Amino acid sequence: MHCPTPIEVTVATTLRALLGAGALAASAALAQAPGPAPLPAPLPAPAQGTVPQPVPSRGRLLYETHCIACHNSQMHWRDARVVRDWPGLVTQVRTWQERAKLQWIDADILEVARHLNGAIYRLPQPGPA
Ligand code: HEC
Repeated sequence: MHCPTPIEVTVATTLRALLGAGALAASAALAQAPGPAPLPAPLPAPAQGTVPQPVPSRGRLLYETHCIACHNSQMHWRDARVVRDWPGLVTQVRTWQERAKLQWIDADILEVARHLNGAIYRLPQPGPA
């Protein structure tokens, strides 16, 4: 094992600085090089990560994880829908999570009912929203 002398350290530092400058010059040249003519893009791809996405609520996450497999919003929009009022909606959510054996606590049931109410049913809801 050998400790670097001050001169060796200086040489290494200078070398790194030179290499760094070289890399910079190379990338500057690349940036200026004319690229191939841009192809007309038929459909712009959705820009991932550039548009801030709203953070999904817990109710929405629970619903989309456990419930959406069997039914889509059609089921909630249809004329013959089962849910008529807020208690009915909570009952349906409770029933469905039981059928799916999810063992949700009341808070989860309410979160999902709130999510569905906000997204679809828009029923008058008792208590603080
Ligand atoms: C096994 C498939 C399946 C799963 C899983 C499921 N559902 Fe359903 N859901 C249905 C079917 C089928 C109906 C329609 C029943 C009817 O017409 O009476 C329904 C109806 C409903 C309704 C009433 C819709 C309306 O207004 O008519 C609600 C609310 C609901 N489900 C919530 C949930 C929630 C919350 C979950 C997740 C915990 C869930 N469901 C999971 C199949 C499923």
